[in-house]
Amino acid sequence: MLVVKDLKKSFGKKEVLKGIDLTIEKGDVLGIIGPSGCGKSTFLRCLNLLEKPTSGHVILEGDDLIDNKELDKIRRKIGMVFQQFNLFENMTVLENITLAPILLKIMSREDAKKEAIKLLDKIGLKDKADNYPEELSGGQKQRVAIARSLIMKCEIMLFDEPTSALDPEMIGEVTELMRQLRNEGMTMVIVSHEISFIKNFCNKVVFMSDGKIQEMGTSEEIFEHPKNELLINFLSKINKR
Ligand SMILES: Nc1ncnc2c1ncn2[C@@H]1O[C@H](COP(=O)(O)OP(=O)(O)OP(=O)(O)O)[C@@H](O)[C@H]1O
Ligand SMILES: [Mg+2]
Repeated sequence: MLVVKDLKKSFGKKEVLKGIDLTIEKGDVLGIIGPSGCGKSTFLRCLNLLEKPTSGHVILEGDDLIDNKELDKIRRKIGMVFQQFNLFENMTVLENITLAPILLKIMSREDAKKEAIKLLDKIGLKDKADNYPEELSGGQKQRVAIARSLIMKCEIMLFDEPTSALDPEMIGEVTELMRQLRNEGMTMVIVSHEISFIKNFCNKVVFMSDGKIQEMGTSEEIFEHPKNELLINFLSKINKR
């Protein structure tokens, strides 16, 4: 579904991604782990071209996103959820969710509103439609951020540390929604420092370090039978914490 070929990204002289090759199949739930600063967020941002790769290819269902004239159209298929929610503070929950489909003329205002209310029901926040983000808890904000991707009928969702800005008691409500999406067959790529979450939630795991994929495998392969020295070292540091 999504194929990444020899993806490289430099900022000035600093090479952050040094050639990433990866294939994500429909329905995959892929976790990305690795030390801070190894390029995980940069990689996610390159997948939907929020960051333009220096070279290489990102191919979604046969369409190469690099230098594609239809980029905006293709990009709609890719949802993104950030650590800091990135909601518009001056808009209500409903306005936040309906903004993109209305602006991009994908839905009429009326249809967008109907769809948003359906989604709010799904995420358990129907009564918050007219509230502003500042009136919501972190967990509620993150669920709204997820709904904002869902209204675009995205086919793959990228999550960058979706729970790390949340108070511990709010993590569950967000992971529960993610679980629901997974069970519905959503293709997901999740970057997280919550190693036990990645271990239990994802069917495939990638370990990145130094701008490269050092090891890739099933959750069991990565966590129970790691082979790469850097991965073994990374896991042993985590287990000591
Ligand atoms: N816009 C930018 N300009 C210059 N350097 C950048 C930019 N974005 C990221 N970098 C650098 O690229 C490297 C990788 O950053 P990135 O945020 O992708 O790491 P990460 O693996 O997500 O780390 P963390 O686990 O701490 O979130 C870092 O050295 C960072 O300073
Ligand atoms: Mg990051």
